[in-house]
Amino acid sequence: MVNSSQSTPQHIAIIMDGNGRWAQQRGHSRTVGHVKGVDALRETIRTCDAIGVAYLTVFAFSAENWQRPPSEVIFLLRLFRTVLLREVQEMHRNNIKLKVVGDLAAFDQDLCRVIDQVEKMTEKNTGLVLTICANYSGRWDVTQAAEKAFAEIGASKLQEKDITKRLAMAYAPEPDLLIRTGGELRISNFMLWSLAYTELYFSELNWPDFDEPALQEAIAAFQLRDRRFGGLSKQASKQASKQASKQASKQ
Ligand code: FPP
Repeated sequence: MVNSSQSTPQHIAIIMDGNGRWAQQRGHSRTVGHVKGVDALRETIRTCDAIGVAYLTVFAFSAENWQRPPSEVIFLLRLFRTVLLREVQEMHRNNIKLKVVGDLAAFDQDLCRVIDQVEKMTEKNTGLVLTICANYSGRWDVTQAAEKAFAEIGASKLQEKDITKRLAMAYAPEPDLLIRTGGELRISNFMLWSLAYTELYFSELNWPDFDEPALQEAIAAFQLRDRRFGGLSKQASKQASKQASKQASKQ
């Protein structure tokens, strides 16, 4: 059970890795793992919604995933389309707002139309904001934000916040918790700019096995973290100012 004395992360981002291995370990083709991955995603969305997470962002298709065999790419994009159309009604009923973020110009017109349709249908919803990152890369995101900022402000006056507010997910706070499944310990070009102070959690489970208890465990681990954002913990901060005023009174 989640320890409710610490706050629930407002924004959880997930790298859903290990679908292929999950399938291969069971003698199936990799695509079976992606289909099972959809079930894990559905369960994660339900749990996040139920426990009051405000933003859930998932990495569904990276800009680098085009390097996979064409049959897998085609399968993933078809699955993406099917899932959007099949799940949107239920999401809408649950007041979920669906956003798809990435370099969408690379997708065919039909997929773009479906993306547009599901976003429009759910745009006024006020519950969980689910962002699906598709043909997304962190470097692409920073580059597109920087290009806009240069054009609008000019290079000499540019400040960090000018990039931040032009990122593809500028509507969301920075993730509090990043979960990566599948046992790999890397960020893989996900939300590079916004992950600066995000707590990282790596799970050995392959994505299709990442169920509600696994998510609760990740959140519980997050709640034990001491987030200092480059400063000091509250206790250390108090101690430091006490010591400083003692020193000052001696002088
Ligand atoms: C990584 O596993 C997973 C992906 C590249 C695709 C993620 C897609 C889903 C979870 C399907 C559901 C999502 C939507 C929105 C349709 P991998 O293939 O890299 O696994 P491996 O590391 O074991 O090879």
